[in-house]
Amino acid sequence: MSDPLQALYARIDLLRDEALAAASGAVDEGSLRAIEVQVLGKKGTLKELLKGLKDIAPADRPAVGARVNEATAVVEAGLAARADALEAARIQRLCDDPTFDATLPPLFGAGGREPGALHPLTTVTAHIEDVFRAMGFLLLDYPEIESEFFNFDALNIPATHPARDMQDTFWLETPPGAERQLLRTHTSTGQVRTMRAVEPPFRAIFPGRVFRYESVDASHEHTFHQVEGLMIDRHVSVAHLIYSMKTLLSEIFERDVTVRLRPGFFPFVEPGFELDIRCQVCGGRGCAVCKHSGWVELLPCGLVHPNVIRHGGLDPAQWQGWAFGLGLSRLVMMKYQIEDIRHLLGGDLRFISQFRPS
Ligand code: FA5
Repeated sequence: MSDPLQALYARIDLLRDEALAAASGAVDEGSLRAIEVQVLGKKGTLKELLKGLKDIAPADRPAVGARVNEATAVVEAGLAARADALEAARIQRLCDDPTFDATLPPLFGAGGREPGALHPLTTVTAHIEDVFRAMGFLLLDYPEIESEFFNFDALNIPATHPARDMQDTFWLETPPGAERQLLRTHTSTGQVRTMRAVEPPFRAIFPGRVFRYESVDASHEHTFHQVEGLMIDRHVSVAHLIYSMKTLLSEIFERDVTVRLRPGFFPFVEPGFELDIRCQVCGGRGCAVCKHSGWVELLPCGLVHPNVIRHGGLDPAQWQGWAFGLGLSRLVMMKYQIEDIRHLLGGDLRFISQFRPS
């Protein structure tokens, strides 16, 4: 063909048809995009053709431009059609997959995945860790499966002691003669472990999950969280203890909360105290959480018993200490006015989604 106009038209049609053939053979989105760039891009083959316009009579040039535009539109349509076909094939493959459940909500978009939320237990634990770390406390972690010794005997609770009945728990099957193992009933298990591992003087907290054979109600769970605090030094008094408890509560609640201190008995402290908080769920009027008393037991504490210090390998004539066992689950309930402890570990997304950042 000698006519340059006809030659150019033939070239445009050829490029168009080659692009269409390549598009229909493309196997994925990436190949389609490559064809698009190669043919329709700024330096694509169709655009390059326009350089040949100088050989064309000026009167014919608009027609050439129109022909290029038509070819561009055809190639664009071909690419889009192939993209649709590939997407349809992908969906079909998913539908044919017996493990695909079309009734599940979409991952993203309307009805799909929403931003997650930190569990309030996580948020409050992190807050407590910050408060105590700022006061020079170590942050320690101890096993949930524990020996009878660290859970009871080391804490001045021998096998015959009635305090064992108050903390019945889940025992593991152990071979005859082996030391008996249980799911720890409190974080106090870390007290003697820490004294044996860390050179005094020291101060430490150890948050964690604890377990009890418990009849469950609005304020009692069989699995709940505590934070233990322990300070060992040469001269430790109740004043140090009360100061630390007050700092903790004012930092956590960021508002004034009414507390009361009364004597409490725990074999591993002497003297021992119960620090109760005015129920934040009912404001003290009485509800299922506070058992209609207006008060919630939150923060038992006391000065570490000399026998426990001895079990820790220290001389009680030289070393003293205070300890507390914060009921973390109940603290979370008080902070967020949660009316039933079972919401905390119930796994109901309607509960946790209320803590999504707004
Ligand atoms: C103890 O567990 C002692 N280890 C605390 C302690 C540590 C005392 C150091 C002195 C020195 P108690 O059984 O009272 O004590 O539990 C401590 C706190 O855990 C309670 O005040 C309460 O807030 C919380 N708690 C106890 N039982 C449950 C339960 N079943 N569900 C939810 N929280 C509970």
